[in-house]
Amino acid sequence: MSTGRTYYLTTPIYYVNDKPHIGHAYTTLACDVLARFKRLDGYEVMFLTGTDEHGQKVEKAAAAAGEAPKAFCDRVSQSFRDLAQAMDVSNNDFIRTTEPRHIAACQAIWRRMVASGDIYLGAYEGWYAVRDEAYYGEDELEKRADGKFYAPSGAPVEWVREPSYFFRLSAWGDRLLKFYDDHPDFIAPQSRRNEVVSFVKRGLNDLSISRTSFKWGVLVPDDDAHIMYVWLDALTNYISALGFPDEGGKYAKYWPADLHMVGKDIVRFHTVYWPAFLLAAGLAPPKRVYAHGWWTIEGQKMSKSLGNAIDPHSLIATYGLDQFRYFMVREVPFGNDGDFAKQALVNRINSELANGFGNLGLRTLSFIGKNCDGRVPEPGPLEADDRTLLAAAESVLGRMRPALDEQQFHVAIQAWVDVVNAANKYIDEQAPWTLRKTNTDRMKTVLWVLAETIRHLAITAQPFVPGAAGKLLDQLGVSEAARGFSALGDGGALKAGTALPAPQGVFPRFVDATAA
Ligand code: MSP
Repeated sequence: MSTGRTYYLTTPIYYVNDKPHIGHAYTTLACDVLARFKRLDGYEVMFLTGTDEHGQKVEKAAAAAGEAPKAFCDRVSQSFRDLAQAMDVSNNDFIRTTEPRHIAACQAIWRRMVASGDIYLGAYEGWYAVRDEAYYGEDELEKRADGKFYAPSGAPVEWVREPSYFFRLSAWGDRLLKFYDDHPDFIAPQSRRNEVVSFVKRGLNDLSISRTSFKWGVLVPDDDAHIMYVWLDALTNYISALGFPDEGGKYAKYWPADLHMVGKDIVRFHTVYWPAFLLAAGLAPPKRVYAHGWWTIEGQKMSKSLGNAIDPHSLIATYGLDQFRYFMVREVPFGNDGDFAKQALVNRINSELANGFGNLGLRTLSFIGKNCDGRVPEPGPLEADDRTLLAAAESVLGRMRPALDEQQFHVAIQAWVDVVNAANKYIDEQAPWTLRKTNTDRMKTVLWVLAETIRHLAITAQPFVPGAAGKLLDQLGVSEAARGFSALGDGGALKAGTALPAPQGVFPRFVDATAA
């Protein structure tokens, strides 16, 4: 079902210094929802994720684990791949920055920035935070009681002095400001855009883009005393996965990216450095960078020292994959920070998935199973209430699409929940269990309207809860080919007489077995 429209979206590539936690799961899941939505909406989607494996932070983590850097990266990178698989993530590629295709792309973009006159050799002297892999000016730092300096992120900084290549970032301020002006949707949400614009307006310093004091990175072309700054290396992943420096093929098809999804901590790298590197290399910047908020855990910052990071695998095992996926993108207005509390997860899945959608499906399909010979019933003339519910079901996509184009997942889901609620209200008001005794023709119409509404809800729920939505579509006898958004509306309507398999619940109520 190709429309010739393409959509390229990316997650950040994850540092392999740490094992995956729900913060990483969050970015990836949000992207997976969008990727699935766009595919169902007729786009050819390229969805990229991967791992960021170079730099001092990873080198130190490997040393601490007593492993050679490459062996360490192989192992931890695999755990990010495994998580994507466990979350049923539909990425089209998985890039590792230690792959030859990536190294070739980094060296090619470097050479282009040299050719444009944007790189020069000098010496860096200043502060560096390994945890953030970022340089800081003295004015940004805080001196604490221990006499040491810390970055605004809380990361300790160290003094670095070494020969370094620089990128002439100072020359790019005005061009970046013009680019932001010309592309008002480039940075979202608006609050992040304002932050970036005022940062650039304060004036930019040239950026140190190579290091000589350690070895774990991509060699600078023609000067192998230097390795590239890990952020220049990392950002380039977005084009190395498209086959750059070959500018045909996937690059021609998908670049510039439609969306880089990132956390709020890495906005500056994506909206200042990355477009400047690309423009210097004569390449187009991405169309949009969306910065989401951060999760705390039961009110506390997630941190290694507190040991409170949550392993997504354990949540999936306890609550179910669809339930976990749904909660992550439903609970917090996207863009805001949010708190991960188990009770909120249980409340959300019990109210909206078990009592809401799951119950609607099970009640309706069981009733059809018992009273319509297990076949889609034949509807009679529609009444006003029937038409109102069907119109609401048909309008869901039109409400979801603009919300998701602005990455407002919670708004898109609310549109869907509104119809689930309307359908549950309809079934109570129409009371098919009473009609069974008084007016079986009308009962059949009501059940057909409900089944048709559930078909719409299940098709539009696929990006969020692919497993359960798929099972419901199986139970409605909807073929794989009729599950795209083009099947919504009258054209794909359920055919009376179609035999249906035995219904099964898709969203059991969560009962805490450990609660007293
Ligand atoms: N390697 C860089 C990204 C390079 S992209 C060219 C990096 N990696 S990371 O593993 O530290 O973080 C990856 C993503 O996870 C970031 O978008 C970050 O915001 C996100 N999160 C990490 N902890 C998080 C929370 N507690 N909550 C939400 N997202 C969080 O940065």
